[in-house]
This record gives sequence, C-alpha cells and structure tokens, in this order.
Amino acid sequence: MPDSAALPIPASMDETLTLMRTRLSHVIPDFEIQAKAEIAHEINVLKREMNAVILGHNYMEPALYHSVPDYTGDSLQLSVVASKTQADIIVFCGVLFMGESAKILNPSKTVLVPSEKAGCSLAEGITPEDVIALRQRFPGAMVVSYVNTYASVKAESDYCCTSGNADKVVKHLIAAGYKQIIFLPDEYLARNTASDVGVRYFAASGSDEEFAALPADEPVVIGWKSRCEVHELFTVDDVDNVRRQYPDAVILAHPECSPEVMAKVDVAGSTKLMVDYVREVDAPRYALFTECSMGDNLAAEFPHREMVRACSLRCKHMNTITLQDTLEALRKLQYQVHLDEDVITRARTPIDRMISIR
Ligand code: 13P
Ligand code: SF4
Repeated sequence: MPDSAALPIPASMDETLTLMRTRLSHVIPDFEIQAKAEIAHEINVLKREMNAVILGHNYMEPALYHSVPDYTGDSLQLSVVASKTQADIIVFCGVLFMGESAKILNPSKTVLVPSEKAGCSLAEGITPEDVIALRQRFPGAMVVSYVNTYASVKAESDYCCTSGNADKVVKHLIAAGYKQIIFLPDEYLARNTASDVGVRYFAASGSDEEFAALPADEPVVIGWKSRCEVHELFTVDDVDNVRRQYPDAVILAHPECSPEVMAKVDVAGSTKLMVDYVREVDAPRYALFTECSMGDNLAAEFPHREMVRACSLRCKHMNTITLQDTLEALRKLQYQVHLDEDVITRARTPIDRMISIR
C-alpha cells in the first residue's frame, strides 16, 4: 500500500457489516462478525466526529484490522502516515513505542494507545543510560536505534530504523565513512543486518581486547543483547518441520528471528514486505514466521492464497489491543502518550532520518 492510501471506511452500520463480512467471512464465524461490527461502527462514527485517524499495525487481530483503521502497515509505513496526518487525534492500534513515535512527530496532537499494557520486550531491554555507557566505550561510533525502543533511548541516538530500512540506514552510514555502528537493541536484527550489508558483527558483551583485535579500518556493527520474545522462539527445527509437512510452502520470516533461522527461510523482511510478497508473488502456500495475526489478516485479505500459520506464537503486547479498547480510547481519550519536551526534541532528528531513508 502506498504511504498515503487511506482505506475506505464505511458510513453506516449496514455498510460496516457488509464490509466486514466481505473481508472476514472465510476466517471468522458470522456471530462474531456481527458482534464486532457494532463496536466497529461506533468507533467509525466517533472517529469522524472527533477528527481522529486510526493507524493499525499489521499484527492487529483480524476483526480490528479489517474494520476501523484508516491506514494499516508496518512500523515504517505508519510512522510516515503519522508524520503527514491532518487529524487532531491519532489512535495508534499498536504498541507503546509506536504511539511515542507518532507523538514525537506530532507533539501538539493527542496520541492514544488503546491499552496500557502494550509494551515490547525489545523496547524494555535497553535504557538511555545503557546508550550513554556504550557511547563512552565506543567514542566516535554512530548509534542506530531500532524503532522498537522507547523515546528516551531514541533521544540518545543518531538514527532510528525499522526492519524495513535497517540495511539502508547502516549502508548509508558506511558510505558516509563511519566505521563503528552501534545497532540497538535487537541482537538478532543487528546480526542479520550486519550479514545483509556484509560487515563484521561485534557483541557489546565482548571484551575490549576482543574489540581491539578487529581490523580498525573495516566497518563493524556493534550489537546489544535484547530479543523479541516472540521471534526468538522460532527455531531451525521449526523451519525443517514446515518444509517436511509443506514442501511447496514459501517460508517468510521477520528479521527479529535468529540468523540461523533466517539462513534457512526463503524470504526475509518487515511485515510490509510479507504483505507485499503474498499479494504479488504466486506460490502454492506461504508460511509466516512472525506474529500469528499476520497470517489471519493475510488469509482474510487474499482468500485465494493458502497460509500456513503458527498460532502458538503470539505477541501478548499487540494482543492487548481490542476493538472494545479502541472504542474506550476514543470515548475516554485514553491512554494518552505524554513525553517530555526535551525528549521529543532530541528524538525527532533520528526519527526524521529514519523516515528519509527508504
Ligand atoms: P514491522 O516494523 O516489520 O511491522 O515490525 C514491528 C514489530 O514489532 C515486529 O515484531
Ligand atoms: Fe515487540 Fe516482539 Fe511484540 Fe514486536 S512481536 S511488539 S518486537 S515483543
């Protein structure tokens, strides 16, 4: 989907029900569609009255994903939309760090994340003090923070990136002559990105002696130790298992999976890349190594495509966002994202740089 393409939002209850039946009937029973259509309709009415925009991450559950967002997408696409919106209120159906990015891009607007519990194991795995200590240890290094970090960490960073442009950001810095790139906080994304770009990887847990032994004139990506609690669970055995059971399946994996898993799958990329791939490339079936709702959302959107899904692997944070929470968010203007002005100012530059490198 192009950055600016808003999804059609139905005007009446009947239209909402028809739209949801068209999109969801082959993945959700009708009694559930009917129950959720009533909530979705209330959300869509309120949204118009309040001049709110709803951004829905690709991991939202199917009934929400296919009924109320004005825009759906991955972290990068939704950040771009947030940077351009004319709405007064932004409701981010995603996790807190995504809402924070929208707030940094729109300090004067009200930004709501419908659940207070929508954290992220990556964002929680690093603090601003950790970044300051890394800068002291590697003076002159550039700090690239994955968008899956809190605003206080972004404020200590030079660049942000998403899984959709991590390689481009690192290549950009290498082309600019930087030799040391601290890439935070996802160990696996850092290792996968270093390997894609063709540069060495050094774990910050390594000793100063080990670091000093690296060739000083070659670029190096220095990584941290956090992991996505969902994607780290996919194993090489899982890939082999899918291949045995579905030899004709194309396996797509998010680069938050381990390098060992990434080496065995067919396609690597952000959630947007997975959506685009399933839309554009014909295959007998597709197996997604990512949050399970993606498979449901794609099965709903592309009924002629066959999805193999791994539904034991869910993101408990993304899953806290429901249609009912989204309605309550608009009714009660909750939960508002508040950030210090100073943090907003300092985090803006790395986010702007992220959006400009695509
Ligand atoms: P994307 O930016 O690819 O949508 O990923 C976000 C995320 O949290 C993956 O776990
Ligand atoms: Fe964070 Fe992983 Fe959930 Fe994405 S799937 S929001 S990286 S915990």
